[in-house]
Amino acid sequence: MGLKHRNTLGLDCMAESAYEITASDQLPSLIRTLEEQKRTWRVLGGGSNVILPKQLDGATLLMNISGQEIIHADEKNTLLAVGAGVNWHELVAWTLEQDLPGLENLALIPGTVGAAPIQNIGAYGVEVGQYIDHIEAFDSVAQAFVTLSQEACQFAYRDSYLKQHPTRFIVTKVVFQIPKAWQARIHYADLAKYFADQESKLNAEQIFTAVCKIRMQKLPDPKVIGNAGSFFHNPVVAQEQHAALIAQFPDLVSYADAMGKRKLAAGWLIDQCGFKGKQIGPVGVYEKQALVLVNHGGASAADILELASLIQYQVKEKFGVQLTIEPSIL
Ligand code: EPU
Repeated sequence: MGLKHRNTLGLDCMAESAYEITASDQLPSLIRTLEEQKRTWRVLGGGSNVILPKQLDGATLLMNISGQEIIHADEKNTLLAVGAGVNWHELVAWTLEQDLPGLENLALIPGTVGAAPIQNIGAYGVEVGQYIDHIEAFDSVAQAFVTLSQEACQFAYRDSYLKQHPTRFIVTKVVFQIPKAWQARIHYADLAKYFADQESKLNAEQIFTAVCKIRMQKLPDPKVIGNAGSFFHNPVVAQEQHAALIAQFPDLVSYADAMGKRKLAAGWLIDQCGFKGKQIGPVGVYEKQALVLVNHGGASAADILELASLIQYQVKEKFGVQLTIEPSIL
């Protein structure tokens, strides 16, 4: 099965075998059989955070479990159970229609609900982990369904316990906890600027619209130009290294980190190395956001990774900072 249309980088990939998963009860026997046959397997959601090879051996599980329902509501919180295959952005829009604001800063992030907690998707000052009550998953080691609490998920910047154990858990359902109390979060620079002249009180729909507009201005639409969003993490450095960098590069863009360190804007570092808008063969660096690598058409994983290495090398040479690739390389 060809996966070109199931990965947002638009890489040509042929899966040896693909299984569509529409219900969690398909998993125990399928995984048991695959393990008995010693075949490798992996789960593919929206394909928005993966770099696929030309040939994907073993089994590829296409996560398509649907369904979303409010399972509990009291005066403080609403609990929302959502199938892993539901489209993330559609869920965010639906929560606003249901008058359950909270996820609006995460609008327009490509991918599925099941993938969202794995790399703890985040944007405009909000991370999805804050809203997760628990996750239901199939544990391929225990060969049983398990429930992982928010604490057990160990959410951190673009990281979680699930990400640390990539071939162990298959997320089937995510249960969100949306607090009734709502507050606008527009402290992130782009949003603060967008609402600078706003005098009246904001609502979640306005923030949703603003986030969509900002993202559409800065980030390429994968349907038009292949990409996997931010290609590198924003590197976190110690205060001392940050101070040394600022002394040498006074315009350095960085943010305070929750752990008392500094998070550097990788896009700025790459931009300073002159990569923005550059094209090498079929791949390039997006002209409006240097943190995004794009497939201009016909690229392979090798083309993408070659450009990534060149960027990593030059950023390391100039700033002494190692960039880490964000998408999973399969
Ligand atoms: N910048 C440049 N040149 C560039 C790009 C950025 O100078 O080409 C500087 C600008 O000063 C800008 C700053 O870097 O103000 C930060 O850029 P931006 O606001 O675009 O955010 P980011 O740090 O590059 C992160 C996330 C995005 C998320 C945005 C908004 C990571 C790796 N990326 O990007 O997430 O949408 O913040 O919160 O943390 C993704 O993970 O795929 C993703 C798009």
